[in-house]
Amino acid sequence: MYRSHNCGELRISDVGKQVTISGWVQKSRDLGGLTFVDVRDRYGITQLVFNMDERAELCTLARKLGREYVIQATGMVRERSSKNLNRSTGEIEIEVTELNILNESQVPPFTIEDDTDGGDDLRMKYRYIDIRRNPVKDNLIFRSKLAIETRKYLDHQGFIEVETPFLIKSTPEGARDFVVPSRLNSGQFYALPQSPQTFKQLLMVAGIDKYFQIVKCFRDEDLRADRQPEFTQIDCEMSFVHIEDILNTFEGLTRHLFLHTMGVDLGDFPRMTYDDAMRLYGSDKPDLRFGMQFVEINDIAKGHDFSVFDNAELVVGICAKGIAEQYSNKDMKDLTEWIQRPQIGAKGLVYIKYQEDGSIKSTIGKFYSDDVLHSWAERFGAEKGDVILILSGEKDKTRKQLNELRLEMGRRLQLIKPGDFKPLWVIDFPLLEWDEDSERFFAMHHPFTSPKKSDIPNMMSGDHETLKNLKADAYDMVINGAEIGGGSIRIHDRALQAKNFELLGFTKEQAEAQFGFLMGAFEYGAPPHGGLAFGFDRLCAVMNGQSSIRDFIAFPKNNQGRDMMIDAPSPVDEAQLEELSLIIKQPEA
Ligand code: AMO
Repeated sequence: MYRSHNCGELRISDVGKQVTISGWVQKSRDLGGLTFVDVRDRYGITQLVFNMDERAELCTLARKLGREYVIQATGMVRERSSKNLNRSTGEIEIEVTELNILNESQVPPFTIEDDTDGGDDLRMKYRYIDIRRNPVKDNLIFRSKLAIETRKYLDHQGFIEVETPFLIKSTPEGARDFVVPSRLNSGQFYALPQSPQTFKQLLMVAGIDKYFQIVKCFRDEDLRADRQPEFTQIDCEMSFVHIEDILNTFEGLTRHLFLHTMGVDLGDFPRMTYDDAMRLYGSDKPDLRFGMQFVEINDIAKGHDFSVFDNAELVVGICAKGIAEQYSNKDMKDLTEWIQRPQIGAKGLVYIKYQEDGSIKSTIGKFYSDDVLHSWAERFGAEKGDVILILSGEKDKTRKQLNELRLEMGRRLQLIKPGDFKPLWVIDFPLLEWDEDSERFFAMHHPFTSPKKSDIPNMMSGDHETLKNLKADAYDMVINGAEIGGGSIRIHDRALQAKNFELLGFTKEQAEAQFGFLMGAFEYGAPPHGGLAFGFDRLCAVMNGQSSIRDFIAFPKNNQGRDMMIDAPSPVDEAQLEELSLIIKQPEA
């Protein structure tokens, strides 16, 4: 028996028991007569004590233990004289009578502490050591619990978990595919799925009316803190449902997950249309943990000979509470420079300080009288002590820039309470998005998304402007400003699907070659259906108040898409390439 107990479970009530534990040496201290060794496993740390006077040989062996040696110790639990109440086992120690070294270890490349001295690349290279640290280990335990709770909830609701293939067909929509050459079909390739989208729709045609899968997805896109090339979705689909059924079901799942893994009651999720989200927050994933909604002032800003505003498509601002006195001219200059950085690219920032004494101080005082600016303050709901920050320019760009400024002010003014969760549904997304560069429409969600029923006639025969304004039965779940999930009601009619492909620039032949299998299936009794997918890694991160998903994935890739531990991707030998028909060997002359 390697262990009778783990390293986190012995308490004062166990004093006097004979026990055996196994684990890794966290640290040892040699105090002459006594040697203390902290031994660690997944569950915690227990102190071992070796007495030189009573067991010299054992104590000498204990002094040789290096960090991360794997050991087994047997002895008697006793009460500690100096207790460590920060540790669950801190009231006891084990007086060791038998010690086995199960394996030695090299000195680890970084400390196994919550705040390690290891840089990101080193931690990734030695991920198996990194996972021994509490923060990473706890994340993996959390992830496991979340997956189990997901399965429990969906099972209870009658969902069936079905696996779909990883070797599928490459499609041009969405992100880039990872492709896999086929040995048996020379010159042909599989693609790894960006999501199981078409398969889950085929499962609906097959009559599996409530499907889910906790599934790996693969996207060859540029990486960010919240994106990995392989990531996990809770992927779901239902038949015979309207939007309302889907929102309720998955709001229910999210509430269940928060309640059963964290004890947090999220309450009902508010809903906001895409248009409102853009107008009030300049983002389709607004962070509702603080206010500072946008206020548009075209009607009162224009016509005062201030050409910057006169020529702008949109003049819009936010009100930062209570900073008029605290924000000096230099702070305002810093903020202006911040928003002029190329990453954000605003031309300038106009501010109006509504000072504590009721007077107005502004960068545009030349053009607007105090009375006018007082009326602006009223529009913004500003009170004495507040500062109004205004941007102007082309509508979409200005909204994006003001979104960045709003989030930055939220951070600078520490408006976000730790542990606060603000979920919402963003609904009524546009169906299509016009891309100026390639002069074509892209699907805002994906090509299988249904237009709103009332927009179907416009979709079938509308002009360019009408098409730009088509609304879809598509929705995103947003929590704390992060897109946690998204989905839609799907097209289940062959003709409508064919029309959508046409609008997306597919010829009939291309649509048939790429998606003929799906449109064919629609001719065999496709039920009305819809669904969504949660980003599982993102959900884990957001629930834990983190923006990076990397430490919720056991073996993640770095920003170049590399696995530093196994050193992938890597070249393969010529024979392998030849077998896959990726190179043709020239006959020797
Ligand atoms: P979508 O592409 O919006 O929808 O993806 C759903 C959710 O997956 C997460 N996500 C990612 N997480 C980590 N790394 C990535 N590279 C990454 N890309 C996406 C996001 C996102 O909200 N088939 C549709 C869903 C549907 O319509 O049912 C789909 O995949 O949290």
